[in-house]
Amino acid sequence: MVGDTLLPHLGQSAAAGLYTDSTFAFSIRGGARRGPVAAAFDGGLPELLGVLGATGKAEEVVKVPTGGKLAAPLLIAVGLGKPDYGTEQVRRAAGASARALSKSKKAASALSALDLGAAVEGTLLGSYTFTKYKSEAGEATLARVEFVSPAEGVAKDHKAALKAHTAIAECVAITRDLVNTPPNDLYPGSFAERAVELAQANGVEVEVLDEKALRKGGYGGILGVGVGSSRQPRLVRLSYKGPKARKKVALVGKGITFDTGGISIKPAAGMDEMTSDMGGAAAVVASVLLAAKLKYPLEVVATVPMAENMPSGDAYRPGDVLTMYGGKTVEVLNTDAEGRLILADAIVRACEDNPDYLIDTATLTGAQLVALGKRTAGIMGHRRVPGPGWRRWATPSGRSSWAMPCPRSSVRPRLPARRPGQRHGHRFGGMLAAALFLREFVPAELPWAHLDVAGPAYNSGGPFGYVTKGGTGVPVRTIAAVLADIAANG
Ligand code: BES
Ligand code: MN
Ligand code: ZN
Repeated sequence: MVGDTLLPHLGQSAAAGLYTDSTFAFSIRGGARRGPVAAAFDGGLPELLGVLGATGKAEEVVKVPTGGKLAAPLLIAVGLGKPDYGTEQVRRAAGASARALSKSKKAASALSALDLGAAVEGTLLGSYTFTKYKSEAGEATLARVEFVSPAEGVAKDHKAALKAHTAIAECVAITRDLVNTPPNDLYPGSFAERAVELAQANGVEVEVLDEKALRKGGYGGILGVGVGSSRQPRLVRLSYKGPKARKKVALVGKGITFDTGGISIKPAAGMDEMTSDMGGAAAVVASVLLAAKLKYPLEVVATVPMAENMPSGDAYRPGDVLTMYGGKTVEVLNTDAEGRLILADAIVRACEDNPDYLIDTATLTGAQLVALGKRTAGIMGHRRVPGPGWRRWATPSGRSSWAMPCPRSSVRPRLPARRPGQRHGHRFGGMLAAALFLREFVPAELPWAHLDVAGPAYNSGGPFGYVTKGGTGVPVRTIAAVLADIAANG
């Protein structure tokens, strides 16, 4: 049965003639039954879709050759799932249809009549490709999409939505590009250079501390982790100060350009995915660019530690004691827990600026995957902070993150390093334990959110919705939602 939830999508290959305005004017809710597209099919579209096996389930894509009935040679119908679909479902449908259109250069989308922002964002994210390393030229990519204006609202708002969601999608793509760049080309030095280029192109201030500067500054965590690699570590700081900036937001992201585990080396199987261990760093870099592109009335500063975690004759060892930036000492028991070490240095540095908020994000623990799986980030932070606190950040966009507790009592006993007979504690609650470690470096009264994106930052399976293979760009959209919220509500 074909229900109201199947929306026709106008596809137009480069070779096709021009479509007319009236082509767009079909009614969306009853798209298969009413409006010019339906009329072009003489009202037979629902039955046709039924014959093609369409059910209307979420992200289902059905391709219909128009046979000259429309200017476009191909019509794509995409399922929205249940009739009470929301923004996220429109975004997913847009992504799925954009992927289905990968052989077309031009298209028109009617999903925007439901939700312009979601349609634009989903379409751009779904049509993302990363072809830099392909030796053979691939298929044409979708270069031009026209969106139907929503029936409701004013043109000015539509323009603003178009601009905001295009910028968000661009910054997600920047993040994906960085994550998808292989670790022989993206290492601390080259990552820092790329961050400088991106900052300069967007009017964002940038500062890079190289290994010498890190040593001078006493960044023992970043240096300790990075010392085993011939590619020397960096600390990059990007700052944007918007007009009438009311609040200062500090961002910190884990930038391990490759995580072998170091001396506590990881098993070979799946180690290649550790090219994505800088997903948090890429996301916070892109988030500052986004703040600049959208001129948020905020000051946003990203503090981004970059290092490669390698085993070598120079590498740090289990048993080493590191003196972190700010003077705290840490005993290392497992060199594969490197993320929290570089983050701690960066957090202390970030807090020297007295921010109003601190958001850190990292592909921090395998335990995040155990607890929440591949698609849901864990969000943690201070339980009681003055002001809005961190719970507002748990579900800003599409229920993509889930609030986890940070209970001192249940996890903490495993933390003190030298406990006779139980030096390594247990492995349960690893995501929370990592957050508790970071908490040691965060001022108690600072509103702080920690997002563990170990699973969601990287898609090792096939594409789905607007998520392509490889780097996903998580959590750029979450941070974008939080920044917009802080800009609007303080
Ligand atoms: N980068 C990893 C976490 C990770 C695992 C990210 C899988 C993405 C997918 C992190 O540095 C790590 O190795 N964590 C260890 C910590 C442990 C040694 C305390 C882990 O989770 O096993
Ligand atoms: Mn590790
Ligand atoms: Zn790591």
